[in-house]
Amino acid sequence: MDTPAFRTRITELLGIRYPILLGGMHHLGTSGVVAAVVNAGAMGYITARSFASLDAYRADLRRCRALSGGKPFGVNLTISRRPELNADVPAWIDIACEEGVRLFESAGSAPGALVEPIHRAGGILLHKCPSVRHAVSAQRLGVDAVALVGLEEGGHPGANQLSAFVSGAFALERLQIPLVIGGGIGNGRQVAAALALGADGVIMGSRFMVASEIDAHAAMKQRIVDADEHCSTTILGSLNDTWRVLHNAAAREVQRLEAEGARSHREFGDLILSSRTKARVYLGGEVEEGIVSLGPAGGFADAIEPAGHIVQRLVADAWQACSALRRTVTTTAAGR
Ligand SMILES: Cc1cc2nc3c(=O)[nH]c(=O)nc-3n(C[C@H](O)[C@H](O)[C@H](O)COP(=O)(O)O)c2cc1C
Repeated sequence: MDTPAFRTRITELLGIRYPILLGGMHHLGTSGVVAAVVNAGAMGYITARSFASLDAYRADLRRCRALSGGKPFGVNLTISRRPELNADVPAWIDIACEEGVRLFESAGSAPGALVEPIHRAGGILLHKCPSVRHAVSAQRLGVDAVALVGLEEGGHPGANQLSAFVSGAFALERLQIPLVIGGGIGNGRQVAAALALGADGVIMGSRFMVASEIDAHAAMKQRIVDADEHCSTTILGSLNDTWRVLHNAAAREVQRLEAEGARSHREFGDLILSSRTKARVYLGGEVEEGIVSLGPAGGFADAIEPAGHIVQRLVADAWQACSALRRTVTTTAAGR
């Protein structure tokens, strides 16, 4: 059988075989899983903010290059709303460029300050955002591609009330640069649907949480394997900081505090800190004890398996769905 291949503006721009991107994942998006998706023909972004030091970040970029045999991979630049947490952003870009990385994903706030240094270094910037308005503005600021995520996104979908399939259809009318959509995508049928919509690809996260290469406790992965489409809930909407997460005891406790009137991040103590999630859930396997970014796409996970298998399954299912669509859409003789 022929090997499926997909050709869109994003596969051309990023030099990949399949229009599937693994977005940044705080504390989890490191060289192992990123190299695995790159080796499988997709694209992944190492999350710069995950590392305790710039040296550790550089070392992981080098590890990724070794694991991927020199194939291109990307770096995620998550920009905080709090400027004091962004001091390392220029160093993240410089170190990536020194290590031969040219592909960047930005998220969190407007990408204006990132465009010039990345382009000066010959890089390509994909900006991820939650609304058509932000996508249009990123295009105006000169980014090379946009990822538009809907309310089902694991992580921070913003105050978004729309799914990516709705926003994406509107955005396509207003964007000239390549567009990928994400949020809730965990199955090849949805990849095919995104292409049928006219998007150039998809961006994913939750579905890859169970990948063998993800450096987290097996108990967390098994919790996601056992879950269904109701595995996620949202917290912190009352603070205008909506966060889609695993529906566990920690999330219910945050919801309880919100219902009782907590309205500042401080009032939740360490419950919402990523350091707690890393220590208790990712390393300790205490799956109820910390907040874990996750969307309903986690419900598609049915096994702990290599990221490359996940990519292959997505591609095979997308290919089958595209073939079925081709059979459905036929021509009829005039007059019939
Ligand atoms: C555990 C986890 C951590 C994430 N951390 C980040 C992050 O640090 N920066 C970022 O830009 N996006 C982050 N995201 C969002 C993903 O990059 C991606 O946009 C999202 O997972 C797509 O939606 P999906 O989860 O429904 O597939 C995270 C997602 C997950 C599941």
